[in-house]
Amino acid sequence: MTLRTLDTLGDLSGKTVLLRCDFNVPLKDGVITDDGRVRASVPTIQRLIEAGAAVIAVSHLGRPDGAPDARYSLAPVAARLAELLGSTVSFATDTVGADAAAKRAVLSAGDVLVLENLRFDPRETSKVAEERAEFAALLTAGVDAMVSDGFGVVHRKQASVFESAQAVPSAAGLLVAAELDVLGRLTETPERPYTVILGGSKVSDKLGVIEHLLPRVDRILVGGGMLFTFLAARGLAIGSSLCEMDQIDTVNRYIADAAERGVEIVLPTDVVVASQFGADAEHVVRSVDAIEDTPFGASGLGLDIGPETAANFAALVESSKTVFWNGPMGVFEIPAFAEGTRAIAAALTRVDGLGVVGGGDSAAAVRTLGFDESAFGHISTGGGASLEFLEGKTLPGLEVLGW
Ligand code: 3PG
Repeated sequence: MTLRTLDTLGDLSGKTVLLRCDFNVPLKDGVITDDGRVRASVPTIQRLIEAGAAVIAVSHLGRPDGAPDARYSLAPVAARLAELLGSTVSFATDTVGADAAAKRAVLSAGDVLVLENLRFDPRETSKVAEERAEFAALLTAGVDAMVSDGFGVVHRKQASVFESAQAVPSAAGLLVAAELDVLGRLTETPERPYTVILGGSKVSDKLGVIEHLLPRVDRILVGGGMLFTFLAARGLAIGSSLCEMDQIDTVNRYIADAAERGVEIVLPTDVVVASQFGADAEHVVRSVDAIEDTPFGASGLGLDIGPETAANFAALVESSKTVFWNGPMGVFEIPAFAEGTRAIAAALTRVDGLGVVGGGDSAAAVRTLGFDESAFGHISTGGGASLEFLEGKTLPGLEVLGW
């Protein structure tokens, strides 16, 4: 199977292109707090403009309930896109209604129009194929081609991702092609040693990735909230730290499977334990076998990996040729618990090989902590999509593009 790329669409001069982006960015009081996904969509938009196409860019933002909701408007995204492109971007206050129709009617070569949030229409995410097809037909009416560039949403069988790509000639945009190129290298022919760092709160979110990557990697470093389920599986007291008791057996199975394959599962040796959750909480560093030996006793909460672990993980990362990192090491939004995540991010910038940051939270952490994005091999725009790709799942939004 070969992904259909932009060149398969032929000459786009004077054509109208529906472009599916993933503009699902975090907003605070109507202001974009991380515009990474908008910036990532710029190369494809520029390529289409240069080709002489008129571009109708569509996306979802958040999870509104199938009806207009001002909190999830794409208007701030259209404004940011105009700044990034250095040109006018028009915005329609609906998706397939009167305003969109009026603005589509006056589009000419090189113009960019952003439509309002697709999920304001219940047909976008409907479970009924006919309803999605009906919405896709309206989105693609009068359109010559569809370009799918919202990598973060290719795991969703939704009208603008799946049925729209079936309705007219379609191809992957530059972002989707670049993501597949890099993520494909992580699963197909990774250079060794190959290290995966997993963090984030829940081990249950990562089971599929662990299962699929175990036969392919040399070591898995475990941090973030999920590390405490691993420590509990080893019989250690973890105070009031996060723990998924129902995953203990699964974790033990992975540990045994890894040992049989000669894959190292590296757990922290020390953690930062806090009296409670919050920026002002008292905190101390403790060895993992003495977590309850703090002034907070069994009510102590582990909120970051400790400095010894961070140094050890960083050394293992830097000595690898391929690294995939998904999930923060601690509660990086609070400075006192950000050091573990910072150390891993810094180590990733020093990898002599391919270092990939995957997943929304780790990508946000890298930017929030002030790292220069260009220092990383690749920062994936996909959260769930990159994980599902690494789980080896068939993704509807890629399958429909020939992948
Ligand atoms: C994401 O943020 O992972 C994508 O934009 C997909 O969003 P969704 O999980 O709401 O479909």
